[in-house]
Amino acid sequence: MTNEPMIDLQDATKKYDDGPPALAGVSLSVAAGECVAILGHSGSGKSTLLNLVAGLDKPSSGTVTVNGTRVDQLGEAGSAKYRRASIGMIFQFFNLLDDLTVLDNVMVPAQLAGMGRLEVKRRAIELLTSLGIDRHAKAYPQRLSGGQRQRVAVARALMNRPALLLADEPTGALDSRSAEDVRRLLLDLNDEGQTILLVTHDIQLAANTARRTIELVDGAVARDVVNTVSGATSNSSAGASR
Ligand SMILES: Nc1ncnc2c1ncn2[C@@H]1O[C@H](COP(=O)(O)OP(=O)(O)O)[C@@H](O)[C@H]1O
Ligand SMILES: [Mg+2]
Repeated sequence: MTNEPMIDLQDATKKYDDGPPALAGVSLSVAAGECVAILGHSGSGKSTLLNLVAGLDKPSSGTVTVNGTRVDQLGEAGSAKYRRASIGMIFQFFNLLDDLTVLDNVMVPAQLAGMGRLEVKRRAIELLTSLGIDRHAKAYPQRLSGGQRQRVAVARALMNRPALLLADEPTGALDSRSAEDVRRLLLDLNDEGQTILLVTHDIQLAANTARRTIELVDGAVARDVVNTVSGATSNSSAGASR
């Protein structure tokens, strides 16, 4: 056991060629088991922050450390390996492969990680079952509703038992009912111990899903607060217990 944070950014800055920096000296730590919302308007640097944590992008300066690994120092192969082993990602538009069935989509990360085919299939079906979409295993993603597709994406993200789940506007393309579904799913996963970074511009979603909200303004941390009504449903301000 260690008190080291799971995620640690020190003075992380990301500059693109022209214009103001996308991230301007961000320092923050996230402990294992936290669900943290990254809140901010469009263009405030939320996706850039997530990409640095995922090793998809490098900071221009500063450090990004996840589980003791300097993610900012990984080469291309090391970075891909780090993502396969430690990171699950879900996106606004699901990013599923349309030519693969639901089951095959979910199996991809474990196959890339070299897990045996039988075990991969067993785990994929187990995940689809626990997410209530196993009956769609043989369907192609385009046949599914947005909410169902996002569940498939969540199953895929969980396939390699990632230490960290990164969600970038995961309810942004969903109707309110499916969005609520996905919100509860994230809450349940966090209750089971999954560490989650949830990027959103939706202040309600942040407050109702995460215990802590970090707000970005122009690429800098403007606020880092513990939420008071975490877990409340969107139409109940009474604060449903969790
Ligand atoms: N690949 C890129 N090249 C140039 N500028 C970028 C790139 N990615 C993001 N930006 C800029 O960085 C800023 C932050 O973007 P982003 O992190 O996507 O914000 P958010 O996810 O909060 O909407 C924006 O001004 C955006 O235009
Ligand atoms: Mg974004």
